[in-house]
Amino acid sequence: MRHTTGPIAGPLPKAELHLHIEGTLEPELAFALAERNRIDLPYAGPEELRAAYAFSDLQSFLDLYYQLTAVLQTEQDFADLADAYLERAAAQGVRHAEIFFDPQAHTARGVDIGTVVRGLARSLDHSEERFGVSTGLILSFLRDLPAEDALKTLADAGPYLDRISAVGLDSAEVGHPPAKFAEVYAAARAAGLRLVAHAGEEGPPGYITEALDVLGVERIDHGIRCMEDPQLVARLVAEQIPLTVCPFSNVRLRCVDRLEEHPLPAMLEAGLLVTVNSDDPSYFGGYVEDNFRGLREALGLTDEQLRLLARNSFLASFVDDARRAELLAELDAHALVPAGRPEV
Ligand code: HPA
Ligand code: ZN
Repeated sequence: MRHTTGPIAGPLPKAELHLHIEGTLEPELAFALAERNRIDLPYAGPEELRAAYAFSDLQSFLDLYYQLTAVLQTEQDFADLADAYLERAAAQGVRHAEIFFDPQAHTARGVDIGTVVRGLARSLDHSEERFGVSTGLILSFLRDLPAEDALKTLADAGPYLDRISAVGLDSAEVGHPPAKFAEVYAAARAAGLRLVAHAGEEGPPGYITEALDVLGVERIDHGIRCMEDPQLVARLVAEQIPLTVCPFSNVRLRCVDRLEEHPLPAMLEAGLLVTVNSDDPSYFGGYVEDNFRGLREALGLTDEQLRLLARNSFLASFVDDARRAELLAELDAHALVPAGRPEV
């Protein structure tokens, strides 16, 4: 146990930039929604479901993640899901969240994209006043489905584009390179959306280069496999391309064996613009501050490094200049006496 002699600093203010709202579905809420919607889950209860959260790779996680979306049926279900996340995120120091959602995981089950966006908006519209968390929504295409489906999804999102700040690319990475989605990314750019993509999680470093050069993305989600290619690292450093890294996710999906072996310290050392995020916190053992704490405990990250990670999260976010300045000022003012040290 850690003993604190000085004032206790709360969690650092930070932005969360890599968070799938469907991945915040806690087992208890899954069962509550299943009951409300009269859906049978093939688990006896929340504890048995939680016990099933043992994954061998990305696909084994995705199978369960998509299965559980069945409980999300109505606008209120999506609002309740987002409320639960935002309340937890606020308690972990999150002051701004850019939230992925997977419309195709819902439209494939007959739930209209309007139900998803209106439901999420019902929560997000009040997030700043209720939780002190500003938000953005990132529409993410499922890369293991055909590119035509992504184009149709973007067209279906037409009436809701004023609610959406960016598009992303997720789901099974290997065998589905970014270039497959060149046309829909061009269309999203033309519609005024910002562009991000998952790349270099399980997929090779070449997917990161392709996401930058073919899709024109501004941020890379995960990106940890860039470390296999020194030339790519040099480019990411030179261009200060943000990487939204998710340490707990990387361990749970076996992209990294142990947190103690995570490349994040080497990434910081290389000068990469790294941020830390929770990805799918219900499934991966913790929310964003839990990831920060894990990095401190398993890898010995210093207060200064954790503060840099928080700072990077604001620099890499899609907020406007005024909000960015406000968030950076809040971080600068936060706990000038770090936790765990006596006041001098
Ligand atoms: N990778 C790919 N697809 C996903 C993830 C992820 O980490 N989380 C939810 N969908
Ligand atoms: Zn992700």
